[in-house]
Amino acid sequence: MKKILILLAAVAISLQLLGQERKITSTMNNDAQMKKFIDELMGKMTTEEKIGQLNLVSVGFDVTGPIVSQNVEEKIAKGNVGGVFNTFTPIAVRKLQEMAISKTRLKIPLLFGYDVIHGHRTIFPIPLGIAASWDLAAIEKSARVAGDEASADGLNWVFSPMVDIARDPRWGRIAEGAGEDTYLGSRIAQAMVRGYQGNGIGQNNTVLACVKHFALYGGALAGRDYNPVELSDRTMFQEYLPPYKAAIDAGASTVMTSFNDINGVPAAVNEWLIDDLLRKQWGFTGMVVTDYTALNELVAHGVAADEADAAAQALKAGNDMDMVGEVFLNNLNQHIKSGKASMEDLNAACRRILEAKYKLGLFQDPYRYVSDDRAKQVLFSKANRDVARDVARKSIVLLKNANNTLPLKTSGAIALIGPLAKNQRDMIGNWSGAGDWQQAVSVEQGIRNAQKGVTINYAKGANITDDKVLIQRLNAHGGNLEIDTRSAEDMIAEAVEVAKRSDVIVACVGESQGMTGEAASRADIGLPGRQLDLLKALKATGKPLVVVLMNGRPLTLPWEDQNADAIVETWFSGSEAGNAIADILFGSYNPSGKLPSTFPQHLGQVPLFYNHKTTGRPYGGDMLDKYKSRYLDVSNEPLYPFGFGLSYTTFTYAEVGLSATEISATDKLTVKCRVTNSGSRAGEEVVQLYVRDLVGSVTRPVKELKGFQKIMLQPGESKEVTFVLTNNDLAFYRRDMTFGTEPGKFHVFVGGNSRDVKRAEFTLK
Ligand code: NOJ
Repeated sequence: MKKILILLAAVAISLQLLGQERKITSTMNNDAQMKKFIDELMGKMTTEEKIGQLNLVSVGFDVTGPIVSQNVEEKIAKGNVGGVFNTFTPIAVRKLQEMAISKTRLKIPLLFGYDVIHGHRTIFPIPLGIAASWDLAAIEKSARVAGDEASADGLNWVFSPMVDIARDPRWGRIAEGAGEDTYLGSRIAQAMVRGYQGNGIGQNNTVLACVKHFALYGGALAGRDYNPVELSDRTMFQEYLPPYKAAIDAGASTVMTSFNDINGVPAAVNEWLIDDLLRKQWGFTGMVVTDYTALNELVAHGVAADEADAAAQALKAGNDMDMVGEVFLNNLNQHIKSGKASMEDLNAACRRILEAKYKLGLFQDPYRYVSDDRAKQVLFSKANRDVARDVARKSIVLLKNANNTLPLKTSGAIALIGPLAKNQRDMIGNWSGAGDWQQAVSVEQGIRNAQKGVTINYAKGANITDDKVLIQRLNAHGGNLEIDTRSAEDMIAEAVEVAKRSDVIVACVGESQGMTGEAASRADIGLPGRQLDLLKALKATGKPLVVVLMNGRPLTLPWEDQNADAIVETWFSGSEAGNAIADILFGSYNPSGKLPSTFPQHLGQVPLFYNHKTTGRPYGGDMLDKYKSRYLDVSNEPLYPFGFGLSYTTFTYAEVGLSATEISATDKLTVKCRVTNSGSRAGEEVVQLYVRDLVGSVTRPVKELKGFQKIMLQPGESKEVTFVLTNNDLAFYRRDMTFGTEPGKFHVFVGGNSRDVKRAEFTLK
């Protein structure tokens, strides 16, 4: 019997190896075939045709820069275009693709890209919101749905995921990423890439992912968009670069360089960054695209004398495609002739673009992603909206719930107040260009859909903002802010009157979607306009006050935290926003989201993040102690820490158990913690694992996330959650900048957020 088992195992292993070998040989064949095909094609291409491939033009919607592509159809016909973005729908894509195929000498198909950031037609919560789900399967699913819809709509390339670590909530683009943490951000980056690229590029329902913005864009000084980034090598490697690397390791096909300069060298001409780090050290073989007119902007940065100079520098640094600015198109031919740019660099860039097209299968069938039938079946389907609703409710974070104010009763009268209560436009957030906001579910509609038995008494209560110039600017860029011309006092008085004749107040307040995203930094991150005054007046009625927040960044909410009975952070929740929010408000879904970004108490604390250093004079809480690292006027503590989020049930954590108190570098350490649902409702908890290295050759953070698991527990149920720490989890960039561990003492923490944790200790020999 034993022999038979061994034989079977051996056969299984050989079959597996054979399978692997076949896979390797077939990839080699594919690679060899691709090389042969592209060699032959490039052999026929003129220098101009090669340069044409490097040109990415924008046609149609969403202009996000100062220049708009001109005479695009003419350029496509002349072979001066390699890819198009901002065009979708089978009809529009087919038209341009036909032009490339029928009018150009070599019939090279075009790439079609788009900012599919958090869904395509079916819109999911903004990325910061999705990150709050801490649910990698759900996040991957959201990207799969987006990739499926995008590819059904003619697209084969999405400009996502954005994996920029952001620690400054003033920066509007914090909304587009996964927040402040390297580990969480890396796992999410990988899940997104897997979702977009599915089982591989080249099927008609998968798309090229594009990791952006390479690199470190989230480090913009003072949170002002496009500002320089000044980071030490150690911080860069330890905290900011891993999510890009994780996405590359997950197989991301393309990378977009960033607008910012990094310690003085703009990313787009940063040879070290693109050629050395990305290509040579990380082994990235895909295509690199610049950001919108980023090459033209090298002149304003002051590192290029003119656009011709920018072209030479940018090609040499390793960029392949030039987005919108036509700096390559207008200058490279001249440079190749004069020797200012090398044919070798041009060939390499052109090859990488053609390889992307080859892998997509566009040379076999340029219309592979153009199918009216698929578009009809897939776009904004009921199935996709169901996924969006589920992801949205998983992303919502319960920040406060005094006296079990929530869930709400399913009878009685609700005073539904606030500029975002009936709002549809803002629900789908920023970067939702293909989404139809008129189909988004407002909170009012969501409540009506869920509860026929409650009476809704509505008042707008306040405008989101009364700043006319800001409104004009927001509306010029996709906003739909309607200003109520009544005085703030009249609007508030009406809301108070409505509240008085209701049982509970649900106040939907926050930002308008355009107040975050690109070029949308804010220097005051409190509730805009008169919304806080509205809340204060509502509070004075004595009715229970539930604040439903909609916003794309952490906000400062000290008054709200002190005075509201319940606070629900819903971000901009997407097409199904209202339904998902109603699920939370009435308790048909028990909130399980956790913050991916610290919420400060005061703007002056920013940047505030959980994985900070101690300093040599850590503040211990004694107000009279002078020479400590602290503010005179505000505490060091956040309002809500990273990883924080409540549930309608409660969870208790037992002591942390370790498999050993002493390990060697090759050992793995098992960390166990029993978590019990000590409340009366079933619920999910994100169990978080943090580590601290107590003494290092360089200062180490007070905590670093190294693992998490989202678990479901019935009332009274408990589960032992197990994590395994490897040497790699304990490693860091040491004093000599090598990556590795150092012997010594470590703390391990397990808890439901980065502050409230149980601790154990071990020693690394
Ligand atoms: C500029 C943005 O920085 C980038 O994220 C986006 O993908 C491009 N514009 C294209 O719209």
